[in-house]
Amino acid sequence: GAPARADVSKLEPGQQMIVEWRGRPVWIVRRGEEALANLEQLNDQLADPESNRSEQPDYIPKTPARSLRPEYAVLIGICTHLGCSPTYRPEVAPADLGDRWLGGFFCPCHGSRFDLSGRVYRAQPAPTNLVIPPHSYLDDSILIIG
Ligand code: FES
Repeated sequence: GAPARADVSKLEPGQQMIVEWRGRPVWIVRRGEEALANLEQLNDQLADPESNRSEQPDYIPKTPARSLRPEYAVLIGICTHLGCSPTYRPEVAPADLGDRWLGGFFCPCHGSRFDLSGRVYRAQPAPTNLVIPPHSYLDDSILIIG
């Protein structure tokens, strides 16, 4: 299939855009400084914080940001449990997601929680982090997926 492309230059911090690649949704989320700092604090709550068991291209750093350009998360928007589409919940600690929630993705099917890098919390139905698709940047604005 053909690569997909997205112009990420107009995304504001906290915004999500979705593009389709090979019939699957790819999420692009711009993360602000506070969101990036929060990722650093979550490791002890996550099932695979360094993405050692989770699918991502070799050239993506296994750091909390899991990203070529830390302000942008690029993720396949399909739950690694049974394939539902999680919901973007960027707000910190909404009442229904608990005190320690620092923003991320919530799967409505069986309740799996992921952080803003797509890293799954411990003891969730989903066994691994959200998948990062192969991608690169053509320039400051254009992201190529595939
Ligand atoms: Fe997402 Fe089951 S499909 S938690």
